[in-house]
Amino acid sequence: MTAVSLVPVPASTLFGRHLLEVTDLRTEELARLLALARYLKVQGRGEQRTLLRDRTLAMLFEKPSLRTRVSFEVAMTQLGGDVLFAQGAEFMIGTRETPEDAARVLSRYVDAIVVRTHAHEPLQRFASAADVPVVNALSARAHPCQALSDMLTLQERFGDIRGLRVAYAGDARNNVAASLAEAAVMLGATVHFGCPPTHRPSESYLAKLDALGAKSGGSARAFSNAVRAVRGADVVYTDVWTSMGEERYRERNDAMLRPYAVTEELFSYAKATAIFMHCLPAHRGEETVAAVIDGPRSAVFDQAENRMHAQKALLVALLTEMKGLPV
Ligand code: CP
Ligand code: NVA
Repeated sequence: MTAVSLVPVPASTLFGRHLLEVTDLRTEELARLLALARYLKVQGRGEQRTLLRDRTLAMLFEKPSLRTRVSFEVAMTQLGGDVLFAQGAEFMIGTRETPEDAARVLSRYVDAIVVRTHAHEPLQRFASAADVPVVNALSARAHPCQALSDMLTLQERFGDIRGLRVAYAGDARNNVAASLAEAAVMLGATVHFGCPPTHRPSESYLAKLDALGAKSGGSARAFSNAVRAVRGADVVYTDVWTSMGEERYRERNDAMLRPYAVTEELFSYAKATAIFMHCLPAHRGEETVAAVIDGPRSAVFDQAENRMHAQKALLVALLTEMKGLPV
């Protein structure tokens, strides 16, 4: 006779899991998280004040942050939980002790850990030893929390993401580009990177994106001609030319990426209804110009606000069985 499990099956398949990359989620899980984020965004604050009561979130940041830090802290506070924050020398993954030891210790104190780090590999080691959910708050490889917010913003602006053309101009090998592209193709968008050969995703990575998008009709291509990448796009996205930790390449990046700056002229090749997106912080006069980022078709502050709503959904999904929630 088969034993009947008395353990309730969690309604959230994300309960207790880590989020280091977008591809840690199945497409249905990504879609459900976004639905929960939309629900929490309009739900009264009083109704969500107890969702994470008595839970503590540790936030450990090796690099500076405005949006990620504050949006996680406010999200956790509004959900009734507590937050502690350590940065810089106080927390450098793998310097005072192994990532595994740090993860095991912290798992005895807190309910979830959000980490912003340089290299991705120590973060993977940290997560593999942690007994509580670990969330990547940006590593050299990925920025999945940004992608959740970006997808929420696209849904708000366009309804369905399937069939959208998303152009990304600039450093197409960076963390934001990777997470954006993975989420977009999973949800059925076509991604066109506009970048020089030095900043082009590898052929194998482009093939991985095509495979990720196969079920929903998403796909990815790279163009060295910026106009070809942007022509007919619904969305034009860019990010800084030089990411944190990559400062030694700044001069080379400035020279190589200048033709991919989202100027008014380049933006004019997108659809007349196209929106401009940027994860922020931005540098006007470098990867874009004031007329675009401060213009009527810019969605950048919606993206920034949506970080908080998307991360609320993530925290609730990782830390609870989502009882009583409609998704
Ligand atoms: N977009 C983003 O992650 O911003 P911060 O670096 O300020 O957190
Ligand atoms: N690519 C940028 C994103 C900052 C939010 C960086 O890593 O610095």
